[in-house]
Amino acid sequence: MATGRRLAVSLLGAGTQGRRLAYMWSSCGCDVHLIDSQEKQLKDSLGYIEQLRSLHEPPAKSSGRIRTHTSDALKDALNDSWLVVECIPEKLPLKRDIIRQLDQVAPADTIIASNSSSYTIGEIIAGLDLTDSSRVLSTHSYWPPETSAIEIMGHKDTDPEHISTLMKQCADHGFKPFHVKRESTGYIYNRIWAAIKREALLTAAEEVATPEEIDKIFKEVLKTPKGPFEQMDVVGLDVVLDIEEHYAENRGNIPEKPREYLRKLIGEGKLGYKNGKGFYEYDK
Ligand SMILES: NC(=O)c1ccc[n+]([C@@H]2O[C@H](COP(=O)([O-])OP(=O)(O)OC[C@H]3O[C@@H](n4cnc5c(N)ncnc54)[C@H](O)[C@@H]3O)[C@@H](O)[C@H]2O)c1
Repeated sequence: MATGRRLAVSLLGAGTQGRRLAYMWSSCGCDVHLIDSQEKQLKDSLGYIEQLRSLHEPPAKSSGRIRTHTSDALKDALNDSWLVVECIPEKLPLKRDIIRQLDQVAPADTIIASNSSSYTIGEIIAGLDLTDSSRVLSTHSYWPPETSAIEIMGHKDTDPEHISTLMKQCADHGFKPFHVKRESTGYIYNRIWAAIKREALLTAAEEVATPEEIDKIFKEVLKTPKGPFEQMDVVGLDVVLDIEEHYAENRGNIPEKPREYLRKLIGEGKLGYKNGKGFYEYDK
């Protein structure tokens, strides 16, 4: 059990992340509310969670119950939740609206978290007149259950007890939690990954080596299954560019050339795996 009387976890957004998080939080017997504005997403996620359950050994004997709700039932769903995590699309105005709404409808002791990859929780709530900002924080997951790292990060006024609660509860539910001790765009891992992507793009843009050659040497030295260009193709070149633009806005000392190179490729219709051509060609 987590905090006080409330035993469930609510996840807002049943897309790629929300359904995986529903699987994780339910895997030790915790009840989960999965909420989405689209019925189809809710239906598809239940099928997906069943698939995950059949593929992975659950850490507890029985999984918790997953109840699905459309967004109009948000307030009721939150009633018994100690935690709500928003997993809606990565658009700042949307995130701000949802956090403001959650602040108004969630019970006073419910922790409110964002799974945003690129916006710190401080950026999301900047200027919002919340009733209690000390219960708001980030819980940034990767690709659970396969990649179970999760980064827990507060903003300047987050109650440290909520951070401790999340660190413990995440560990108890099969995640590998890491505390991000200062507000950091990109948390811990993505900052380092951003630097690798940027330098790999620059190396290719300067024609020092081709993307294939860079991937090959990277894998040879680090013994990783994928090179940076293979990984960028999976993420999508447009998404990689958006992320890099966000770092550039935030820091001001980011070289332009990797972004120019990405814009050129995107202009040629290369988006990566999703449309069959990026740094590599894929069979659709
Ligand atoms: N996809 C990833 O690998 C990944 C990894 C780490 C973090 N994230 C972060 O997780 C968040 C969600 O990403 P995703 O890839 O799961 O997105 P997604 O597009 O797959 O899913 C978003 C879901 O939110 C729903 N939605 C949109 N507006 C809503 C609203 N107002 N109320 C309720 N539901 C709403 C959509 O119907 C959709 O089902 C983003 O902030 C993203 O940065 C994603």
